[in-house]
Amino acid sequence: MSRDTSHQSFTSHRAIALAETGFSSNAEGIPYSQAFGDVYHSADGGTAQARHVFLAGNRLPGRWQGRESFTILETGFGLGLNFLETWRALDEEPSGPSRMHFISVEKYPLSPTALAEAHARWPEHATRSRELAGAWPLPLAGFHRLHLAGGRISLTLLLGDASALLPQLTASVDAFYLDGFAPSRNPDMWSAAVFEQLARLAAPGATLATWTVAGAVRDGLGACGFAVEKRTGFGSKREMLAGHLAKPPIRQGPPAHQSTHERRAIVIGAGLSGATCAERLAARGWTVEVIERHSAPALEASGNPAGLAAPVINLADAPNAQLSRAAFLYALRHFAALGELPEPATRVGGVLRIARDEREAERFAGLLRDLSYPAALARFADRAEGSAMAGRPVARAGIWFPSGTHVSPGAICAASLARHAARIHCRFGIRAARLEADTNDWKVFDEAGTCVASAPVLVVASALDARSYVQTTGIRLETVRGQVSLFRPAGGQGLDIAVTGERHAVTLPDGRIMLGATFQPGDDGVELRAADHAANIALVESMLPGLCTGLDPGRLEGRVGFRAATPDRLPAFGPLSAEHPGLHVATGLGARGLVWAPLCAEWLAAHITGEPSPVALDLAAGFSPERFRN
Ligand SMILES: Cc1cc2nc3c(=O)[nH]c(=O)nc-3n(C[C@H](O)[C@H](O)[C@H](O)COP(=O)(O)OP(=O)(O)OC[C@H]3O[C@@H](n4cnc5c(N)ncnc54)[C@H](O)[C@@H]3O)c2cc1C
Ligand SMILES: C[S@@+](CC[C@H](N)C(=O)[O-])C[C@H]1O[C@@H](n2cnc3c(N)ncnc32)[C@H](O)[C@@H]1O
Repeated sequence: MSRDTSHQSFTSHRAIALAETGFSSNAEGIPYSQAFGDVYHSADGGTAQARHVFLAGNRLPGRWQGRESFTILETGFGLGLNFLETWRALDEEPSGPSRMHFISVEKYPLSPTALAEAHARWPEHATRSRELAGAWPLPLAGFHRLHLAGGRISLTLLLGDASALLPQLTASVDAFYLDGFAPSRNPDMWSAAVFEQLARLAAPGATLATWTVAGAVRDGLGACGFAVEKRTGFGSKREMLAGHLAKPPIRQGPPAHQSTHERRAIVIGAGLSGATCAERLAARGWTVEVIERHSAPALEASGNPAGLAAPVINLADAPNAQLSRAAFLYALRHFAALGELPEPATRVGGVLRIARDEREAERFAGLLRDLSYPAALARFADRAEGSAMAGRPVARAGIWFPSGTHVSPGAICAASLARHAARIHCRFGIRAARLEADTNDWKVFDEAGTCVASAPVLVVASALDARSYVQTTGIRLETVRGQVSLFRPAGGQGLDIAVTGERHAVTLPDGRIMLGATFQPGDDGVELRAADHAANIALVESMLPGLCTGLDPGRLEGRVGFRAATPDRLPAFGPLSAEHPGLHVATGLGARGLVWAPLCAEWLAAHITGEPSPVALDLAAGFSPERFRN
């Protein structure tokens, strides 16, 4: 197999599954890549090499002592041995950083099974290896952030080509592990373009280490501002390289509010946006005051009994599809990490999207063929299969999202606010009416003009109300009314999965069926309408014939909510403008709050704390509130 032809297909198609490298073992039993004609680690020992070359070469663990957070960037995740050894070193040091970011770029990720098999040779890593394999992402190009070791380690895997993905990374890196295959066989990993990115990402005092002393590598690193020196190599290798950034870093330090060491924030709003932002900040040791005008969380848009989570799919794999896929995969991990949800609990049953008509069914089939997603993300399901999954007849074929889910947004909010209860203080029954900045803090005033909270960082997560302050009027949000219909099915027969299309239908944990939802831009009527129930019934009947037989729209229960939607239907998370340092918004979740909120909240928390971004730069630009500035 030639490496020039075997791995090219996906680089320009970010959705396409990554091919595995020709992974095998050489005559000595060392993991070997047929495509590159090279071994994954030294024949003298993979983990010992990791300790000698990469940890000691970067003066670790010594250099991370006393640090709150420390960031390592590796080129070539491979078997993850360097990662496991770094994790072990952290495990052995409870006084080390409370947050370790390990970022690794890998073009040919192994399957979790291949990883687990390879790790079997290092029984001392059995527990860590199991946790890694359990969290391992689907083989989809792009950024994948995994939280491991109880949240102490964030592993951000950049699946794809190093020279394409490193320019998409926002991070301030303390130590680099350069571990491509031999430069002569794997020049892409040792190119000037890659070295320039390392220099761009280097934090003040950044160091690097690698097992190779190839002249081109020394020269290339030197040309980008790294001073390198030869040290004693590992095993049969006489020498290795260690180095440090010898010029002023390109990345400046964190914004002023981050260097105060005052890790306090206010969040306005206790819906999905506010609760997930509070949780992500509190997970980083921040103390968060949540100001909510109602007497409990999730009483507005996030108060529906259930919402569906599934990614957007389109043939072009446009940025909205790429971002929604990354957000969906992160949301699933996030929901799982919240553990047992308060009732009503998560119901992971998969989501089936039924085609509107036969033409759309054909389009779905073609789309899924062309995108060649892993079946665990999405695949075509014909009508018979869809009917078997739903437990009742469906009208047409569709797209099956096996890991799609429906869940109570309120349960997610409650679990998020409870997760770090000691650091999240909810203050209910207060309407944040006015904001004011003084030298150090943002102050929030209630309607009586009393200052109710102050902190260096403020996150306005109050959905449509987020645009009501003089500092935030620039955000463009539209009200989109939605009415759901609720009924108890005759004979108690429900749906085994969530079904979606022009409407949703799900069975709630209490046995009722929820049909949702109308989509009425610009309509702010709060009353329940029989005509809207009738519209929900008609569209659900066109997907699930007979489900609603005999229902009287005039007598149905329901609920009305209002989505806060942006013109381009992408969220708005981040700082609004440089004029208001410390002020951020978290809104615009529109019709997909369950999908967007966790990843956007993680992005915002990383941005606020100056930690590596979990989202590629070009995709993060899609949800920046700054896009509304003229
Ligand atoms: C009918 C309907 C169906 C939906 N279905 C789905 C679905 O299937 N899947 C999906 O992913 N998403 C769905 N959504 C969208 C999802 O529910 C929303 O995107 C999400 O809940 C929005 O969360 P939020 O925190 O931004 O807003 P909200 O939940 O509205 O929270 C904002 C909070 O801010 C508080 N607040 C506002 N102003 C102030 C103030 N001045 N001071 C203090 N507090 C304030 C409010 O009281 C509220 O609690 C649906 C939405 C609707 C309406
Ligand atoms: C020597 S192995 C890495 C070993 C690994 N660090 C470990 O601890 O097990 C080199 C890795 O670089 C990856 N790789 C090769 N070319 C790449 C490229 N252009 N972009 C990203 N990764 C690449 C290979 O797939 C392989 O996994």
